[in-house]
Formats: sequence, C-alpha cells, structure tokens
Amino acid sequence: MSEILRIENLKKSFGENVVLKDISMSVNEREVVVIMGPSGTGKSTLLRSINFLERYDSGKIFFKGQLLTPDPFTVRSARMKMAFVSQSYNLFPHMNALKNVMYPLVKIKKIEKERSKEIATLWLKPHISHIFDQK
Ligand SMILES: Nc1ncnc2c1ncn2[C@@H]1O[C@H](COP(=O)(O)OP(=O)(O)O)[C@@H](O)[C@H]1O
Ligand SMILES: [Mg+2]
Repeated sequence: MSEILRIENLKKSFGENVVLKDISMSVNEREVVVIMGPSGTGKSTLLRSINFLERYDSGKIFFKGQLLTPDPFTVRSARMKMAFVSQSYNLFPHMNALKNVMYPLVKIKKIEKERSKEIATLWLKPHISHIFDQK
C-alpha cells in the first residue's frame, strides 16, 4: 500500500506550552486514521500543521513522498490535494451554502465558474434538495 502522508519528529510549542512532542506517524492509501485524545492535547495543531495553517517548530512532513516546505508554491499545491474540515462552521457568512462550496473550486482549483456550480450542486443536492426544489 502506498504511503500518502508521513510525519517525522514533529515539534510545536506555543511559548512554554509544548503541544507536539516529537510526533511521528504515517498514513497509507485507503487507510482511515483516527486521532483521539482529550481537549487541548494538540489534535487540531497537528492537523493544522499538515497544511501550514500552523507553523511547526521542527520535524518533517511528506505528502505523497514530497517534503512539504512552507514556501507558497508548495503550500498551495499541497492544499489543492488535501481537504480540511473545520470543527466549527468556518463558512463565509456573506455567501450561501452553494457559493461556499463553489468558492474554493474557482479560487484554488481554477475550475470555471459554471462548472464549479454544477459540481457544487451535485454535492449539495442530496443534502439540501428542499432548497434546490424551490421555484
Ligand atoms: N494559536 C495558539 N496560540 C496559543 N496556544 C494555542 C494556539 N492554538 C492552540 N493552542 C494551545 O495548544 C494546545 C493544543 O490545542 P489544540 O491543538 O487545539 O488541541 P485539541 O485539538 O486536541 O483540542 C492547547 O493547550 C491550546 O490552548
Ligand atoms: Mg481540536
């Protein structure tokens, strides 16, 4: 099975608070990995580090064999292949659900607007068909 993600010796502190203490792990293709632990133990910090929403202090992260570095090109290209679902509803409040789904398709994946709308509609329709059915 091919390796999708490999984390080596990741360390991250917020001031005196050492949150990630030498974390190493890997995730293979088709594998589902659950990270469990009490609140405040660093689960979100670990996930945020993977796509550089947080800057870690030391260690290495490889995505599909490529070492992730904090330069904008690498970060952007890695983010195009990863998905991150926030714990809280981090939606754009000035956009409706359809536009929230369309936005990253247009902005990050550079998919044409009409096509993005088709894709977003396909994904959302089973969940909120009552909205689409309204005339
Ligand atoms: N931006 C930040 N600045 C300072 N401390 C932070 C920040 N983000 C998280 N922390 C601290 O890091 C620790 C781990 O937080 P977090 O990764 O959110 O834990 P979890 O997701 O497991 O609940 C907590 O002590 C939290 O207060
Ligand atoms: Mg969390």
